[in-house]
Amino acid sequence: MSETQTSEVQIADPRPCIDPNPLSPYVAWAGNRNKDPILSVFKGVFPKTGNVLELASGAGLHINYFAPHFPEIRFQPSDYDADVFETIKAKRAESGNENVADPVRIDLTDEKTWPDPKDGLYDAIFVINIFQVAPLAIIDGISALGAKLLSPAGFVAIYGPFKVKGEYTTPSNEAFDKEILAAGVKEWGLKDARDLEKAANYHGLALKHRFDMPANNFILQFARA
Ligand SMILES: C[S@@+](CC[C@H](N)C(=O)[O-])C[C@H]1O[C@@H](n2cnc3c(N)ncnc32)[C@H](O)[C@@H]1O
Repeated sequence: MSETQTSEVQIADPRPCIDPNPLSPYVAWAGNRNKDPILSVFKGVFPKTGNVLELASGAGLHINYFAPHFPEIRFQPSDYDADVFETIKAKRAESGNENVADPVRIDLTDEKTWPDPKDGLYDAIFVINIFQVAPLAIIDGISALGAKLLSPAGFVAIYGPFKVKGEYTTPSNEAFDKEILAAGVKEWGLKDARDLEKAANYHGLALKHRFDMPANNFILQFARA
């Protein structure tokens, strides 16, 4: 069952209406459900020290939840929507996270907004729940940015629900896709992991691991080929 769907948890934890606004109750609800499973994967793959960049941070729920678990990592939040920055900073203050930097504006479709590699490389770059509501072309941005900004042993981790080899992995993911497609927004809908892989390959990255996550989500981990 996709985390984006209702289940037996429904009574205790009702799912708000699907709303991709990063400050919406729906995005907060999804984040609260996926933050612990994602953290447990990151505990196995993040280095002890280094620099980690989050793309499309939204309200900053994840980066501020993860940061205390990696006190020797410097975390850099980002989003293309500068309206979320105050929320990210408020969450940072609430959590007392001294290892979370001020958010920076990164638009994955506009290379001019990307950090300069001369200012530092990243050991990990992660992005959570963007592809259901963003065009597939966003993977070109993520891959090109990764190719530019990853340290030699660094990786990009992409979390979300995906189709695999053209198929839905479960009937519930198919139902979820139908639900979001019904909204009629051109770029919405589940993307296929193999299309992400193709774009990443084009930019010199290769899929290293696919982590199966609860609620039929995945983490796709890409590193330099
Ligand atoms: C559904 S929200 C997910 C937010 C957060 N990652 C989470 O899981 O709570 C999608 C996020 O993608 C961001 N976004 C959409 N298009 C983007 C782009 N071209 N470049 C960077 N961020 C983008 C939005 O501003 C929003 O914060």
